[in-house]
Amino acid sequence: MNLVVVGMQWGDEGKGKVVDFLSETADVIIRYQGGHNAGHTVVIEGQTIILHLIPTGLLHAGKIGVIGHGVVVDPKALLDEIEMLASKGISVTGRLFLSDAAHLVMPYHRTMDHESEQRRGASKIGTTGRGIGPAYADKMARVGIRVADLLDPQHFREKLSANLTETGRLLPTTAGEHTVDLQKIYDEYLALGERIKPYIAGTARILRQAIGRKQHLLFEGAQGTQLDVDMGAYPYVTSSNATAGGACTGTGVGPTQIDKVIGVAKAYATRVGSGPFPSETDNDIGERLRTQGQEFGATTGRSRRCGWFDVMAARYAVDVNGLTAMVVTKLDILDGFSEIPLCTGYQYKGQLLTEMPTSANVLQHCTPVYQVFDGWRGQTTAGATSYGKLPDNARRYLEAIETRVGCPVDLISTGSDRGGMIIRRAPFVS
Ligand code: IMP
Repeated sequence: MNLVVVGMQWGDEGKGKVVDFLSETADVIIRYQGGHNAGHTVVIEGQTIILHLIPTGLLHAGKIGVIGHGVVVDPKALLDEIEMLASKGISVTGRLFLSDAAHLVMPYHRTMDHESEQRRGASKIGTTGRGIGPAYADKMARVGIRVADLLDPQHFREKLSANLTETGRLLPTTAGEHTVDLQKIYDEYLALGERIKPYIAGTARILRQAIGRKQHLLFEGAQGTQLDVDMGAYPYVTSSNATAGGACTGTGVGPTQIDKVIGVAKAYATRVGSGPFPSETDNDIGERLRTQGQEFGATTGRSRRCGWFDVMAARYAVDVNGLTAMVVTKLDILDGFSEIPLCTGYQYKGQLLTEMPTSANVLQHCTPVYQVFDGWRGQTTAGATSYGKLPDNARRYLEAIETRVGCPVDLISTGSDRGGMIIRRAPFVS
């Protein structure tokens, strides 16, 4: 059984906890896109661990982790993470495999990311500043450096020099300065290459062999459907395919090998960075969601914009990912709200839209239509593990989501710790 987990909203849906939970019954956990812009948070016995590049499943002893070729890798960030885990007694040696075909995030990509955001001014994307967009742009323009290039010093030097010449990055600025120091980057990355060497492998072959042994593969999506470069509100997106299709193109596993696709959505909604967010509540209610939900970025620490669950966006996620089930997370954050609005549609220029618009400009001018649910007031869902024991109004709210989104809610997360999970149907059982 091979399963893909994707975000249904704007990222930060709580995929870290869900993947950690599902990893118990998986054998190989695979990242297929994005880079260290992602921040997957897992809380184990009160201790918070945030992973950016390493598949979350590696927090479980004995599991295999793969970073597929669809991921862009900053080798320094990867090594920092390996060391952080080692300091907590978690060794990934011999069970973490990094694709030799993955592209590298280079120092100049970070500079370009910052400069591009500055140039955009008020219309900036609000990127994580990790150099992700420029790294993917170089990959597509065929001037990227791949992990395998680091293994041959002479070839690496030639390629780095050719790519930097081709892109004009070796040219002095108008002030006569050289902003890119080829020798410095060469020395730094060659040394990093030596250190990541033990993890480098042909990961498509490893996955093929695992499938041959009938092992369970768990593909861990980063970001979310609304941030997908093709399916999201372009250009307010990340630069990779965060949707389920990315699991195939980013790993070399064919679509016929995927059995299930599970979408993760928060019981409300958040987004970081700029771009349209129709159900945003930029007021004291939003502030309350932010405080109760601890909605601050796991990667950048930025405040997340908060709002209500958006059925339009969730239904779209079901369609474009081919979701077979969904997980609703952070239900407990809604404890204590007397009213819980559910965004069921958009009004645009006096018309009710029934489909998610393609254009960010249209989306920007949509106003939400709400169905308002009664909260569960004095009752609590925090830490609940039984669906039957949830307050009636909480079940009513979840069932409305299920019906309107058109996808079964198989799991419900009711707390940040590993324990708070309601299992209505176990995902790895066919
Ligand atoms: P980039 O991926 O750093 O280029 O940022 C592009 C957009 O995606 C920005 O709005 C970021 O805030 C958003 N983004 C990137 N990674 C994540 C994530 O892991 N969670 C939430 N938003 C993200």
